[in-house]
Amino acid sequence: MGDYIEIHDLNKTFQTRSGPLQVLNGIDLSVQKGEIFGIIGFSGAGKSTLARCVNGLEKPDQGRILVDGKDVTSLSKKQMREERRHIGMVFQNFNLFESKTVYENIAYSLRIRHEKKDLLDQKVKEVAELVGLSEKLSSYPGGLSGGQKQRVGIARALIGEPDVLISDEATSALDPQTTLQILDLLKSINKEKGITILMITHELDAIKYSCDRMAVLEGGKIIEQGKVVDIFHNPHSRTGELFTKVFFQFQNDEFQSGAGI
Ligand SMILES: Nc1ncnc2c1ncn2[C@@H]1O[C@H](COP(=O)(O)OP(=O)(O)O)[C@@H](O)[C@H]1O
Ligand SMILES: [Mg+2]
Repeated sequence: MGDYIEIHDLNKTFQTRSGPLQVLNGIDLSVQKGEIFGIIGFSGAGKSTLARCVNGLEKPDQGRILVDGKDVTSLSKKQMREERRHIGMVFQNFNLFESKTVYENIAYSLRIRHEKKDLLDQKVKEVAELVGLSEKLSSYPGGLSGGQKQRVGIARALIGEPDVLISDEATSALDPQTTLQILDLLKSINKEKGITILMITHELDAIKYSCDRMAVLEGGKIIEQGKVVDIFHNPHSRTGELFTKVFFQFQNDEFQSGAGI
């Protein structure tokens, strides 16, 4: 089990109307093959930009990102398109085609690659079964619950047979019960398929439930990283401290309101 994703001194600046905005500032990170690694940070910390750099949607100004030993920052557009098949991405807002059925949403990346019909059909049914959507293949996204929509999002990412799944706030739009179901699904995919997962979120409980190791991103920097239990019980950063404080406060409120009934 070696390092599977290695990020070295990653920097990204956006040119904005009010001048340059440095969003990632010297990120160093390593994620091991087969783990679920959590990245937590407040809104605007640079989480999505980091995710987009890893799957090549955004080009960093400086630094290297190795995925399975391959430097994705030095690939051509064509090579990157090929490489991206190995990196699945799941989003908060699902990013589904509203006018396509669940089947066609899942099949999309194979359709544009002109996959043979039989094989496409077999793969769509396989991943639909894995995410629990076999009965919904002819439905449209508009008729699905949030949890079912995210299952489509996950199936669509899985159909490319990725080695890595980047979950960018995948559960942030879902209610707590659905969040747990989706996290359970991601955990079982990790376990059964050995897919490495980068779980990016602003919800500490999602990380606590799913990850062994995590990093805290603040202002474009990794300000602490390590085992979830250690950071949880003894945060060394302001963000880490705030997150755990909010988490314990929430637990406490829940407990009190539960006890009051
Ligand atoms: N394409 C872009 N152009 C200019 N600024 C951007 C762009 N993408 C993100 N930003 C800015 O970068 C910062 C970090 O954004 P983002 O990576 O989306 O953070 P997070 O996902 O942690 O909320 C924000 O201030 C955001 O406004
Ligand atoms: Mg984001």
